[in-house]
Amino acid sequence: MKKVYITSEQKEELNNIYAEYLNNPLIMEMKKIPMHRGSNCYLHSFKVAKRTLNKAIEHPNLDYKNLLIASILHDYYLYDWRKNRKLKKRHGRNHPGIAINNAKRDFNISDEVADMIRTHMWPLTPHDFPKSFEAKLLNIIDDEIATVEFLSSKKHKKKKEKQYLSRIATLFE
Ligand SMILES: [Fe+2]
Ligand SMILES: [Fe+2]
Repeated sequence: MKKVYITSEQKEELNNIYAEYLNNPLIMEMKKIPMHRGSNCYLHSFKVAKRTLNKAIEHPNLDYKNLLIASILHDYYLYDWRKNRKLKKRHGRNHPGIAINNAKRDFNISDEVADMIRTHMWPLTPHDFPKSFEAKLLNIIDDEIATVEFLSSKKHKKKKEKQYLSRIATLFE
């Protein structure tokens, strides 16, 4: 088993935050936003959050709480860019800023969370380089999950969705 660096109190706190977001009606709106190859924004975001946090706890002294919130909210832009020509054009570069504004409005996020969301699309946003270890981790894992989603086929979409929903039901295995 891999060594982890969080206490049981920290684990409980992170689990509670995760569950709160998972069941929040505003967050559930992300289910309506289609994403790479039959995934949706809700599934994508919790897949990213789960993988990011499970990696993060293998490292000591990270800002786990802000990293968890940033991972969940990194794509909280709430529109379907496929349906809007204007938004489609610069979606890759603009959506981190839109996600930050929505997250500030709905969840009162910290500056650390906003910074991690801002840099998650680097190098597409060349001026927004992820500086902290946490921001780098989110940036890399978002790419990794997006790539896996992009490469998966649309076959058995409903079945896959069900499997993913049960997989993201808990933060830690
Ligand atoms: Fe994104
Ligand atoms: Fe993403």
